[in-house]
Amino acid sequence: MKITFLGHAVFLIEGQKNLIIDPFITGNPAYPGDFQLPNIDYILVTHGHGDHIGDTVELSKKFGSTVISNFEICNYLQSKGVNKVHPMHIGGSKEFEFGKLKMTPALHGSGIIDDGKIIYGGNPGGFLIKMEKSIYHAGDTGLTKDMELLKGADIAILPIGGNFVMDIEDAVRAVEMIQPKLVIPMHYNTWEIINANAEEFKSQVEKLDIECKILKPGESLEV
Ligand code: NI
Ligand code: MN
Repeated sequence: MKITFLGHAVFLIEGQKNLIIDPFITGNPAYPGDFQLPNIDYILVTHGHGDHIGDTVELSKKFGSTVISNFEICNYLQSKGVNKVHPMHIGGSKEFEFGKLKMTPALHGSGIIDDGKIIYGGNPGGFLIKMEKSIYHAGDTGLTKDMELLKGADIAILPIGGNFVMDIEDAVRAVEMIQPKLVIPMHYNTWEIINANAEEFKSQVEKLDIECKILKPGESLEV
C-alpha cells in the first residue's frame, strides 16, 4: 500500500483500489504540478470547503470514480453531474471493495461556495480507512477529546497549520490521544495564514516515541 502526499490535505492511497482524499488540485499552490494521477476508483471528501472538494467533479467524470462524502455534499455533487456517489454520515461505517470506511467527527464548517452563494454542506468529518493498515485522515478539525476513540489507528494524518484547524500544540495532544504508529502532518504552509514548522511538530511527536514522517508534495511512503 502506498500513500502519496499531494500538498495541503490531498492524499493518494494506492492499493487494490486507488483512493484520493480531498483532491484540491486546481489553484492548490502546494500541488506538485508534474504529478500524473493513476486511475482513481474512489474520491473521499471530508467537507464542503473549496480546498477540499477541489477538483472532485472533474476527476469523478474523468475516471468514473465513486465519490464518498456526507449526504449533503453527495447531493450537491450529483447536481453538478457526478453520477456515482456514496453518501455516509458521521459515525457511520461501511464495507467497500478497498476495506472498511468510517466517517469521523470534525470540529469545523462545511459550507459549499457555489457561484458566490453558500450552500449547506452538512457536517464536516474525517475518515478512518481500514485497509491492511488503518489510516485516519482527520480532515479540517480543531482538537477534540473524541479523538481518544481513534486510539489504535496505525497512521494518523493530522492538520497542524492552525487558524482554521489544530496548530502544532493541539496536534501533538491529538497524537497523545490516538497513539498511532506513524503520524503525517498536513494542512500547513499552503498559504501564509497556515504556516507551521513541521520539523518542530516532528520533534515533539518523536518525544512521545511515535514516528513522524514529513512528506513533501509528490513524495510517497510504502506502508
Ligand atoms: Ni475547511
Ligand atoms: Mn481546509
